[in-house]
Formats: sequence, structure tokens, C-alpha cells
Amino acid sequence: MDHDIESVLFTADEINARVTELGAEITRDYQGRQPHLVTIVKGSIPFLADLMRHIDLPLTVDLLGVSSYCGTQSSGEARLTKDLDESIEGRHVIVVEDVIDTGLTLSYVLRNLRQRAPASLRVVTMLDKPARREGKVDANYVGFTISDYFVVGYGLDWNQQYRNLPYIGVLKRDVYAPAE
Ligand code: IMP
Ligand code: MG
Repeated sequence: MDHDIESVLFTADEINARVTELGAEITRDYQGRQPHLVTIVKGSIPFLADLMRHIDLPLTVDLLGVSSYCGTQSSGEARLTKDLDESIEGRHVIVVEDVIDTGLTLSYVLRNLRQRAPASLRVVTMLDKPARREGKVDANYVGFTISDYFVVGYGLDWNQQYRNLPYIGVLKRDVYAPAE
């Protein structure tokens, strides 16, 4: 797999250090409240697994499946592929996302979740790519802000692959756009 990677953006150690900081920040901000981590699968699974262990509070977790992407281009449409198991009414929801690119997926998720009347609703994302944002949607907590690269690893995929890389790297262009 490594030979498909152009460059490593964040090593496993750098990711770990940043996730530790995010966990500490959330722990401070949610004193006296119990966060409910609504995780967008599958890309956010490694991030959730690491982040939750750095939040020193009682918390709960649920998973939401949303599909929006084909290959490397956002289709601009999102739909639920797996709904939450539990009601979020009156709960302090934190959406756990892998990357915000155009923001269309997150806008859709936030609109959907707001209708379910959570007590509060915030977003933590591992990566933010503000260059491609369409519309106004932001995360409350951001791991790293990056340029408009297509990245894989630490949960992020290209065609369902590379999610298991322990680092975040830029995928070689010829992997997803082979020369004619
Ligand atoms: P958005 O709707 O354009 O913000 O796209 C969000 C979703 O697209 C993310 O949750 C990812 O699943 C996927 N995505 C966006 N950028 C990348 C990337 O660089 N690598 C892998 N997946 C990405
Ligand atoms: Mg995602």
C-alpha cells in the first residue's frame, strides 16, 4: 500500500498527539455534561476509537451511515445508509467526522440531526479542507486543516481501500486517475 502514497501528511505519532489535545479540549468543554458521539461511518471509526479514549467523561456512542461520495468526486447528494440506534432528543451530541471537504455531507447530517431536537449539537473533524467548501458549515473542533489533496489512511478511503494505513497520506494521482 505504501507505494501508492505520494507523501505522508501526518504520521501516526502526530495524529496521536493531536487527538490527545482534542480529547482534552472536549473534556474541558463538556464538564458536567455527557457527550453522545454520533460517528459517521466508516471513515471516522479509527478517529472515534482514539478520541473517545482521550475524553475523560462518561459518554455514549452511536453510528450514522451516510453516503455521498463516488471515487474522488462528491456527487453533491447524501443519503442515510444506516440510521442511529438511539434517540438523540435532549442529548449533547458531538458529530465525529473524518474530513469536511465541500461540507455537503455535514450540512445534510446537521439538518437531519437538528430535527431530532438534541440539547446541543457540535462537530469534531479530524481533517478540514476549507478550499472546497460550498456553503457555510464548520466544525467546532478541527484536528488538522489541509489543502485540497485527496488523502487516505486513518479511516479515509479511496474506493473502500487504504482505511487501515496508520498515517494520513496523499494518494498518488495515477492510482485514481490512470494515464490513458
Ligand atoms: P463533503 O460532503 O464534500 O464534505 O465530503 C465529505 C466526505 O467525503 C467525507 O466524509 C469523506 O468520506 C469523503 N472525502 C472527502 N475528501 C476526502 C479525501 O481526501 N479522502 C477520502 N475521502 C474524502
Ligand atoms: Mg466521512
